Order: sequence, then structure tokens, then C-alpha cells
Amino acid sequence: MKKIIKPVKRIFGEIAVPGDKSISHRAIMLGAIARGRTAVKNILDCDDCNYTMAAFRDMGVSIEKRDEMTFIGGRGLKGLVKPNRPLSAGNSGTTVRILSGILAGQDFETTLTGDESLSKRPMKRIIEPLSSMGAAIKARDGDHIPLTIRGGALRPMDCKLAVPSAQVKSAILFAGLYPDGVTTVEEKFKTRDHTERMMKYFGADVKTEGLKVSIAGGRELTGKTLEIPGDISSASFFIVAAVLLKASKIRIKDVNVNPTRAGILDILSRMGANVKVLNKKEGYEPVADIEVESGDTRGITIEERETPGIIDELPIIFVLASLSKGKTLIKGVKELRVKETDRIVSMKENLEKMGAGAGFKVEGDDVMIEGVEKLKGSDLKSFGDHRTCMSMAVAALAADGASSIDDAECVNKSFPGFFNLLERSHVE
Ligand code: S3P
Repeated sequence: MKKIIKPVKRIFGEIAVPGDKSISHRAIMLGAIARGRTAVKNILDCDDCNYTMAAFRDMGVSIEKRDEMTFIGGRGLKGLVKPNRPLSAGNSGTTVRILSGILAGQDFETTLTGDESLSKRPMKRIIEPLSSMGAAIKARDGDHIPLTIRGGALRPMDCKLAVPSAQVKSAILFAGLYPDGVTTVEEKFKTRDHTERMMKYFGADVKTEGLKVSIAGGRELTGKTLEIPGDISSASFFIVAAVLLKASKIRIKDVNVNPTRAGILDILSRMGANVKVLNKKEGYEPVADIEVESGDTRGITIEERETPGIIDELPIIFVLASLSKGKTLIKGVKELRVKETDRIVSMKENLEKMGAGAGFKVEGDDVMIEGVEKLKGSDLKSFGDHRTCMSMAVAALAADGASSIDDAECVNKSFPGFFNLLERSHVE
């Protein structure tokens, strides 16, 4: 689907974005391996989460949707049944990587596959630690799907993560649920801690001390009732649109503001944007309303240790930096190269087409962006990547002249109603 996007004057009003993708995946997974029923309100209905659900249904888990509730019949840590076909993760890195941690604990062999983009993404990062815990994993070229995992008798371990990745940390923590004894993961930089929070909520013995997380395994989890907060990554497209389009004011209700995830709020404040966090509520995850008004922004320096907290927001931050005064330096963003597409390439190519190319420089793992006064409408490419697509849609709203974006249906990966919500909240 080719989407035509015309510039708009401003966006306005009160909106809600769909449930958080990372938290939804974890709710399905923990619900499936807990004992008893889990009831989840506002689970994200998107392609990625539907792959996770389908995989667990294939392993005997009942998952029923009724209105805004999803009910998961948990089968206990070892109660999954061997699927009678390979499990597909579609385009979802979170599904394949975290699910591998659970499969490492099962007494059967399973094969995990996925689409072309997922086939290019690195898996050695989970294969190595899970193998050290005792799983037998075969992979194409030792690093790519299909993965064949023969789980079973795992042993606990202590490990240091070479790459800052919540998916890898989570795979190890899920595997750590199985053996008796304590498994510890140490990170170089703090990544999103949704797994730790939700595991604790389900009764797991998880402890966090600075950059070290440990889990004591061999203990069953209990099904829970929980609500999924709005996804800050989805909200960030509307937040940046409101900052960029003059006279905009938008309030986004009930967004997850977990500090390991909401780095964009701090980045925006440092860039000079008018962003407020209101009505904060604490729970297994903190939730708040985010209010944003338009205003001028300026370039800043973003350190490597900050990147895990904005890893999915970097494409939209690139758009904002392209329209901010001065230079923005973003250090150590090499993980962007191994997302659904190489997001340094996809964003640079698109922003170049819109006239911001001269200011977009890549040096090693750093990106430097010098802002321009105005972007110009152009024929843009999603690269099949949802976040490139939504970031460029926001850039197109703020441009001179109409733009088009190819393969725009890729937004269904995380945010199926994106274009509708954008249309409903803008003023021509
Ligand atoms: C995710 C972790 C991040 C993020 C992805 C979701 C998660 O990936 O980019 O969209 O749910 O744990 P990495 O762990 O590869 O950084």
C-alpha cells in the first residue's frame, strides 16, 4: 500500500495509543507458562503479538479474546506441548529471541522460523548464553533462523552481556526460571526492565542490583490480572508531530513511562520541547498522561549509555534533529543496523530525499545531524520497517508539499491504527 501524506497545520486533542508491544509479548509469554488463568486488558492487537499468541496456541495454550480482555490458560513452566509444525515468529525479533529462552526449558525439540527480514537478524547473541545453560541449539550459519532448539535440563549461570539488549537479557531470565539455583545477567548499560517487573508480579524471585539482575529458578509462577499501558514508542510519533507542527497541543492518555523505556521524554526536554508528564500512577509499570505543545528545539549530544532507553525512538529523534536548530550528536547507535532494517541507512536515505541529507553524517557508530529550516515532500520508502514508515509519515506532515510512502502496511507490526489516528487528530 502506497500512502500519500499531505502536510497539515497542526495536531490537536486528547488521544490514546494502543497497548505496549514489549509488555504485551511478555504478558502472553508469562501467562502461558504460569499456573492458572491470566486476564490481560488492552493487549496490543498487532502482527508481532499475534505471532507470539499463535506460537503458544500451537503449544497447547488456550488464548481467548473477548472485547478488550485476553484470557490465557497457563500450563505451568513445563506444561507446553511439542508443536506439530515449526513455530513462525513472522517479523518479530522479540518473539523469536524471548521465546527461545522458554523453549530452552522444555523437554522437546522445536524449530523457530520467520520472514525474510528476521532471517537476516543476529541470533548468536541468544544462542551462546542459552547453549551455556545447556540447551542444544542449531542455527543457519550459527547465527540465523531457522533455529532448532532442544531444551531440557538447564543449569543456572552468571553472564555478562556483550550487547545492550533487553531481548537477550529476557531470553536468559526466562531460561533462568527453569533450573534450581540462581542465574545472573549483568548489563553494560541498563535496558528496558519489563521482564523483571512482570516476572516479579507473577511471583518469580527476581532481584535487581544496579546493572545486575538475578533470578532464582525452579519455582512456578501464578496467573495474574493486569492491564497493558499505552506504548511510549507509538506515542512518540504523535509527541514529535505535536512539537514540530506549530500551534499543536496534544494529550496522550495512560502511557507507560518506565524510566528504562521513556528516555525520549528527557531527550525532548533537553532539546527544548514543551513536554509534561501528568497524573502519574505507579503499578507493576508506571503510567501517566503526556501533554505536548509545539515549540522550537535545538540540537544536543546523546551519549551511548542513553541509547537503550530510546532505541526504538531513534528514527523519530532523527526526524526531530533534522528540524532542530544546530547539531545533534547521537553516539554509539550500531544496534540500529540490526533492527527490522538498517535504520541508519533507511532514515538517512529518506531524509536525504527530503533535503536534510547534507546535514546527516555517519561516523563509525555515531550519527550527527545538522538541522534544516524545512523538509520538502518526496517519494519515501518504508524499507518494510514500521518505525521508519511512521517516522517518515511525521516528517511528511511537517514538510512543504505532499509525500508518498511505499509499503505503508508495515505499520501493522506494532500500530495497526496509526494512519487513522493521525488523520483523526490533525487539523488541515
Ligand atoms: C525489545 C527490545 C529492543 C527493542 C525491541 C523490543 C523488547 O530490542 O528494539 O523493539 O521487547 O525487549 P533489543 O533487545 O534487540 O535492543
